Amino acid sequence: MAYDADTTTNEIIADATAAGIDLTDRRFVITGASSGLGEESTRALAGAGARITMLARSPEKLDAAAARVREAVPDAQLDFGTVDLAEFSSIRACAAALNDAGDPIDVLINNAGVMACPQGTTADGFEMQFGTNHLGHFLLTALLFPAVQAGADPRIVNLSSGAHSISDVVLDDINFEQSEYDAWEAYGRSKTANALFSRGLAQRFGDSGLVSFSVHPGAIMTELGRHLTDELMEAMMSRAKARAESAGESSGGMHFKSVEAGAATQVWASIAAEAGDRNGSYLADCQFGEPGGNPSSTGFSDYLLDDATTDRLWTLSEELTGASFG
Ligand SMILES: NC(=O)c1ccc[n+]([C@@H]2O[C@H](COP(=O)([O-])OP(=O)(O)OC[C@H]3O[C@@H](n4cnc5c(N)ncnc54)[C@H](OP(=O)(O)O)[C@@H]3O)[C@@H](O)[C@H]2O)c1
Repeated sequence: MAYDADTTTNEIIADATAAGIDLTDRRFVITGASSGLGEESTRALAGAGARITMLARSPEKLDAAAARVREAVPDAQLDFGTVDLAEFSSIRACAAALNDAGDPIDVLINNAGVMACPQGTTADGFEMQFGTNHLGHFLLTALLFPAVQAGADPRIVNLSSGAHSISDVVLDDINFEQSEYDAWEAYGRSKTANALFSRGLAQRFGDSGLVSFSVHPGAIMTELGRHLTDELMEAMMSRAKARAESAGESSGGMHFKSVEAGAATQVWASIAAEAGDRNGSYLADCQFGEPGGNPSSTGFSDYLLDDATTDRLWTLSEELTGASFG
């Protein structure tokens, strides 16, 4: 079956099952599982027999999400952990608790994210979006990496976004000390970093069997939009219109997906997309992305393929988090 923007999680799971992919007891750790795409990924994967460790920063929201998942999948195998990805000490405590339990992790989905928030800093003093979306996940991944390496056919999926096309990473000014803060630019930089992180993981550990993909889920109405003012919304819509026009599309703007279609690409990336010689790639609409084209759909910016920046980001992230992948 050819996939497209409206392919759903259930369709991905059904195809994977028909192809003999058995998720029974396969263990997934999903960040940001308390709402939106993380919750839907949990529901879909748990429904196929996978065991999911749901991570979130709010225990109350986590409980509510778990109750919704159990309503849909009464026998869901769920574990829980709390983590604030904007605070290194919280990440270390969460990783220590997971590592103490001693179970291998087959798939890590770095899904949590904050978008276009007002200027702020993490507990460790980094710009909030780069600090949470990239540095927080980089540290968590490094701390959990031995458990991932102990997993069967391990995968790490990082949620990026078509908004990566707003900006490459700016590694000499990650905290906007030399330039004026712009909420969309900061989000774009962080989402480029998420994609380069997958590329770096595949380059360093692909030979030992690790598969990593980054994912643009599409545009989905979730709680991610909580910080959007009218002005930020207007900027988003006009950017989408300009992208469509320059790609020669007549749609004129954004195609909003259901949550089930939005989570489909990360579910596909985490169970079925075959890496071959494309390990580390950026995926969208349940397909491999293409350089150029419209980043609101499957296109991506050339700088996602830049190896020098991938390496510089990796080294800087190790320095800033104190993390090492061994
Ligand atoms: N929705 C879209 O249109 C879209 C488009 C492109 C990319 N994405 C990406 O898809 C991913 C999932 O987004 P979504 O749409 O499902 O948004 P969402 O419903 O807002 O879910 C985001 C999740 O991340 C969590 N989170 C935020 N800050 C955190 C922190 N400091 N520590 C731990 N968890 C934190 C949230 O928890 P709280 O609720 O407690 O804050 C929530 O569980 C994000 O990485 C986003 O960038 C989404």
